[in-house]
Amino acid sequence: MSEPTTPRSRRSTWSTLLVSLAVCLGCSLVVSVATVVLRPIQLEHRRAARNARLADILGRQPALKELLGDLTTASLEERVVDLATGAFVTDVEPAGFDPLKAAAEPSTSRAVPPERDLARIKRQALHGVVTLVSRGGAPEALIVPIYGRGYGSIIRGSIALSGDGNTVIGLLISDHGETPGIGSEITEEDWTSLWPGKKVRDESGKLRLHVVVEETGAPDDDEAFHVDGISGATRSTEGVGHMVQFWLGDDGYGPFLARAREGALR
Ligand SMILES: Cc1cc2nc3c(=O)[nH]c(=O)nc-3n(C[C@H](O)[C@H](O)[C@H](O)COP(=O)(O)O)c2cc1C
Repeated sequence: MSEPTTPRSRRSTWSTLLVSLAVCLGCSLVVSVATVVLRPIQLEHRRAARNARLADILGRQPALKELLGDLTTASLEERVVDLATGAFVTDVEPAGFDPLKAAAEPSTSRAVPPERDLARIKRQALHGVVTLVSRGGAPEALIVPIYGRGYGSIIRGSIALSGDGNTVIGLLISDHGETPGIGSEITEEDWTSLWPGKKVRDESGKLRLHVVVEETGAPDDDEAFHVDGISGATRSTEGVGHMVQFWLGDDGYGPFLARAREGALR
């Protein structure tokens, strides 16, 4: 038989509850404060790690090395671009931005009309993150992210352009799942070394940079604007060519690159 509850044991139940509540509140306060305080530090670490990775990739590009000399003296600055206008925006954090995630979210993306979907991505984010390489003045190089479908995978990378956005400094493929020994040749220097020096647009402003594959031949035989595909890895190289055209075009970073051509980035 249970003993009747005494005022003393009722008081102790209440104080146990109060202490538990106070501990819970204290803990959630500590977690909230830690989250808020640590967030900028976390983002700064992420940004530094991304820049270090980028500097590492860029440092291995002979053309970039030649153009920029010692990359440790150059500053790499990530900026978020509104793709429709080409303007920089400050209300989206570049460090945590993932274009594929943003493209999957209806509120941060738009559909790509099938007839213009060269990269075969169906939806694209409204924003993108570019990296500006500079030494105090106007950017000396612009690094524009690209991605799209290759033969059997999504290929991700970047194209580094001169400060006016019109000359290729280098093609950087950072991630792909193409077949080893076939499509993987898109990362080999034999192929990436064909890109530096190629021109993006002609004097009339027409986007002419493209990859030539044997089947289609050269629609534009001016060598300044084309890179040969690799026979046997036609689909992967063609895929890279198409995604480059998409991301440098009107639906991609075209409006931003127009601002670069006008010298409006600083
Ligand atoms: C197992 C297998 C893997 C392949 N992987 C690739 C690839 O990664 N990239 C690619 O472009 N083509 C790949 N192909 C496709 C062929 O190599 C294809 O014939 C080629 O892309 C077409 O180019 P061609 O017209 O120069 O022959 C693959 C084919 C097979 C059977």
